[in-house]
Amino acid sequence: MKPVSLITGSSRGIGRGIALELAKAGSHDIVVNYAGNEAAAQECQQLCLEAAKGQIRVEIAQGDISKTEDRAALVDFVSSNFGRLDVLVNNAGVAPKVREDLLEASEESFDRLVSINLKGPYFLTQLASKLMRESAPLEGALKSVVTVSSMSSFVASVNRGDYCITKAGLSMMTKLYAARLAEFGINVYEIQPGIIATDMTGTVKEKYDRLFAEGITPINRWGLPADIGKAVVAIASGLFPYSTGQVFKVDGGFHIQRL
Ligand SMILES: NC(=O)c1ccc[n+]([C@@H]2O[C@H](COP(=O)([O-])OP(=O)(O)OC[C@H]3O[C@@H](n4cnc5c(N)ncnc54)[C@H](OP(=O)(O)O)[C@@H]3O)[C@@H](O)[C@H]2O)c1
Repeated sequence: MKPVSLITGSSRGIGRGIALELAKAGSHDIVVNYAGNEAAAQECQQLCLEAAKGQIRVEIAQGDISKTEDRAALVDFVSSNFGRLDVLVNNAGVAPKVREDLLEASEESFDRLVSINLKGPYFLTQLASKLMRESAPLEGALKSVVTVSSMSSFVASVNRGDYCITKAGLSMMTKLYAARLAEFGINVYEIQPGIIATDMTGTVKEKYDRLFAEGITPINRWGLPADIGKAVVAIASGLFPYSTGQVFKVDGGFHIQRL
């Protein structure tokens, strides 16, 4: 029996990169979650099976993490298909539909981002951790919750305050669940990606191309979904057994203040 990983929003982008790196490692069965893009989820499933040379199970589960009933159905799906859960990756998230100045941005956008980016992972972790607690430990495997926040949890972007607020909230969520779940053998981590090449950043590609050309990060290239995936593999492999509440910056050194 292999440990089971549920990765929210893994049809595309960073979530797909995490699923693929985990599949390459061959150590975990995987549940690929998506919201609306079924074709992308099926493609991810196929790529994972090929990467793992058929040595793992990969199932697909549709579900909008902002909806209470979808979160329940998602955890039920994992329970009925695998009977256990070892790793929850809270990755799914959205950017505002339009970047608007903090002084004018709408309440509607705020509510949308809070429900998908913050309330979704907060209550999914509450529910999924119940199944994780009920899952008998597997030898050599560590249970973990990994939440993909952002450098926006500490960098103020005044044209997407709603996004920054949700990501800052995920940092506290990580601390809270780390403190609460340790007694059940579940370690909790936060990954703060930098600028990663996905559909989300596709709309502002020229701006970021220019910033990279000006040397915005010491490691001077776009981040890739696989960069985040490798960090998740290290965590999910149980290589940090005495660390919880830990924040991993996977940002090419973006956070370093330079003079
Ligand atoms: N790209 C970056 O530079 C960057 C940097 C820092 C942090 N992040 C964070 O990393 C995470 C992934 O971002 P990304 O760039 O990979 O985004 P992306 O390319 O836009 O992909 C988003 C993924 O999330 C899924 N999703 C969206 N809303 C959902 C919902 N309500 N319920 C379930 N799944 C949902 C999408 O599913 P469908 O395919 O079905 O739409 C898709 O799989 C987000 O939390 C984002 O905030 C990204």
